[in-house]
Amino acid sequence: MSCRYCMCRTRGALNGLQQLLRLNGWQYGCGLLSLLLLVSVGCVPNNHSKSSTQPPVHSVENQMARQSLSHQGIQGTAERPSKVEPIARTEIQNLESSLALLAQGERVYTKHCMRCHGDQGDGTGELSSSLHPQPTDFTAGVFKFRSTPTGQLPTRDDLFRTISVGVAGTSMSDYGDLSEPDRRAVVEYVRNFSSRFREESAGEPILAPPSRSVTPDAAQRGQELYTHMFCQACHGEHARGDGPLAQSLSDTNGRSIQPADLTKTRLKSGKGPHAIYRSLVTGLDGTPMPSYGDSLTQEEAWDLALYVASLSQSGDGS
Ligand code: HEC
Ligand code: HEC
Repeated sequence: MSCRYCMCRTRGALNGLQQLLRLNGWQYGCGLLSLLLLVSVGCVPNNHSKSSTQPPVHSVENQMARQSLSHQGIQGTAERPSKVEPIARTEIQNLESSLALLAQGERVYTKHCMRCHGDQGDGTGELSSSLHPQPTDFTAGVFKFRSTPTGQLPTRDDLFRTISVGVAGTSMSDYGDLSEPDRRAVVEYVRNFSSRFREESAGEPILAPPSRSVTPDAAQRGQELYTHMFCQACHGEHARGDGPLAQSLSDTNGRSIQPADLTKTRLKSGKGPHAIYRSLVTGLDGTPMPSYGDSLTQEEAWDLALYVASLSQSGDGS
């Protein structure tokens, strides 16, 4: 006899469950585990739970489950029918689909991402030592490319966008060829490397104002702001990434980092004024590129973004 919900069936499922428990918080996970194990009563234990040296996983967990359920007052008795049944079905379906999503994410990650970002997501994959910049350490939970205010976590859509478009000028290529479900699944897997995603929610995305096209006036105002805000200190007078501070900058991991050459057509965070606006307002966390969300008005940030965008359109961008 086999049991559909038997969590001891494969090590992978158990690992997935453990990840999910961490993912959703202990209490929630414990409740789900309890419900799940209640349903799994009657499963035939497989070989690894029969081992004489190993604790009988089923019995310990079933006991935990019963204790937890009776503690919550939802375990049924002959006189009082169980209240678990209707809740269990949807909870189990949710749990199953979350596990399936993580397992799908793990497959995508192992195949396409692990050699750089590492099996633990800490940026130390086999190729990492030869790369500059180094692959992101996901365990730190600090992300450059976000739509959220500085210091906050990226949204799922932010991660999805980065994975879809890549990071221009680095070894992080675009994975737009992967199916959307695969990219969504690997977003979940990436999130699972950092406990920040379990403890905090992502910030509210900063919405860009409606697009304006570059006019000579806007570009002129943007150029003045560039000087007024001392962008040239890092990016240089002609925005080629060669300002007086350029050689002395490092990221939060202590690695040296160059200011962007803003005359390039393809910047890291994407193309066009929207991507530039986002970088200006949110800052690139973990790098010396600050957030100007508090020091520029929306209009000013747009003027500056339009000016920076115009630099690559003036013919000398590459
Ligand atoms: C060949 C190496 C390589 C591979 C393979 C790779 N990456 Fe990256 N990735 C990088 C590097 C290098 C960076 C850092 C770019 C930077 O900081 O400017 C990066 C950055 C990222 C970021 C942006 C983090 C931030 O700060 O916002 C995400 C998200 C990401 N990678 C996810 C993935 C996923 C998911 C996969 C697999 C589908 C993947 N990467 C495959 C090298 C790689
Ligand atoms: C203290 C130094 C410093 C200052 C001041 C600074 N930047 Fe940056 N900026 C950086 C660094 C370093 C990076 C590159 C981060 C990276 O590559 O991960 C960067 C990246 C950027 C990017 C993103 C480029 C990309 O590839 O997507 C834009 C846009 C930008 N800066 C514009 C500006 C503007 C405009 C100003 C002034 C309002 C400014 N920066 C001020 C250091 C600075």
